[in-house]
Amino acid sequence: MSEPVLTISGLNVDYGTGTDAVHALRDVDLTLHRGEVLGLAGESGSGKSTLAYAVTRLLSPPGVITGGDVHYHQRDGSALDLLALSAAELRAFRWQELSIVFQGAMNSLNPVHTVHSQLTDVLQAHRPDMRKNKRTDRAKELLNLVGISADRLGAYPHQLSGGMRQRVMIAMALALEPEIVIMDEPTTALDVVMQRQILRQLVRLREELGFSVVFITHDISLLIEFSDRIAIMYGGRIVEQAGASEIYRDPRHPYSAGLLHSFPALHGPRRELSGIPGSPPHLSAMPAGCAFHPRCAKKVDGCDTHVPVLATPDADGSRSVACWLHHEAPAAAARS
Ligand SMILES: Nc1ncnc2c1ncn2[C@@H]1O[C@H](COP(=O)(O)OP(=O)(O)OP(=O)(O)O)[C@@H](O)[C@H]1O
Ligand SMILES: [Mg+2]
Repeated sequence: MSEPVLTISGLNVDYGTGTDAVHALRDVDLTLHRGEVLGLAGESGSGKSTLAYAVTRLLSPPGVITGGDVHYHQRDGSALDLLALSAAELRAFRWQELSIVFQGAMNSLNPVHTVHSQLTDVLQAHRPDMRKNKRTDRAKELLNLVGISADRLGAYPHQLSGGMRQRVMIAMALALEPEIVIMDEPTTALDVVMQRQILRQLVRLREELGFSVVFITHDISLLIEFSDRIAIMYGGRIVEQAGASEIYRDPRHPYSAGLLHSFPALHGPRRELSGIPGSPPHLSAMPAGCAFHPRCAKKVDGCDTHVPVLATPDADGSRSVACWLHHEAPAAAARS
């Protein structure tokens, strides 16, 4: 596997403080490697957006990072501690090194400005030396990159389809050739065909330009197709992490298996959709032990009392899972 470009370790995020605080992220460890597409999946409320916001320091109150580290690894081998960057350093870092396309971003284009002015604004802010005609050339190039004809440059957002608006947002995120692009459910408002078309384009661009992608969605079947590795979140924790094909063929966490059976796969053998019984827990009433145990058909003694840590069940260390079915039994762990 290639070298890491982003490492997250022991990240904890609360919403609120004191007795009102709820834990939205708990001890999250995650590594993004250079050039990879990392998919992040989990039901609504599992903490996916919170993770994206915390890593990019865009978390707003009442969200607070209460512990952990986030490091960005530069090509020269040095590492930046993202949680320690000043506001000015952060401004330079965002867009240049890391850009993010937010959930519902399709509607975040400014309705009264043309695509041209919105794309060139980003360039102007970060590349003040770039001449005006060069900025326009670059804006055209960016539109082409995401499959939109350059003659749409003068269009206003309402003159574009949803898929095109989404692609303009992706073009904007790529404007300064960042090393990392985080996409938080960028395609959920689009139809399935358009979702796949955009993702296919993104994967092709990644191969061309060499950036890394964190792609967030609750639709795991999309990730199986397009990502290299997948991390699954439940109740603010990563519960499983493995290569996309490993997760598809052999999900180890009962929750991953449940998610896989909740979405129809576009390719491969048909399987019955069964969904996951029950609903995700509320942060203020998190079950003891493994947060998934009340919905889990495979629970064993101790699942309701001991939190399973993310551990690597295979000798090659390529995947990790936080489930007592794949670790020393919780009863034994309790004795030790
Ligand atoms: N501003 C806030 N104040 C209090 N709780 C919050 C706030 N924002 C998010 N939460 C809680 O944090 C948890 C994680 O939310 P988050 O938005 O990260 O989930 P998500 O996985 O992105 O969900 P979705 O798939 O719906 O986008 C949820 O339980 C949510 O209710
Ligand atoms: Mg979200």
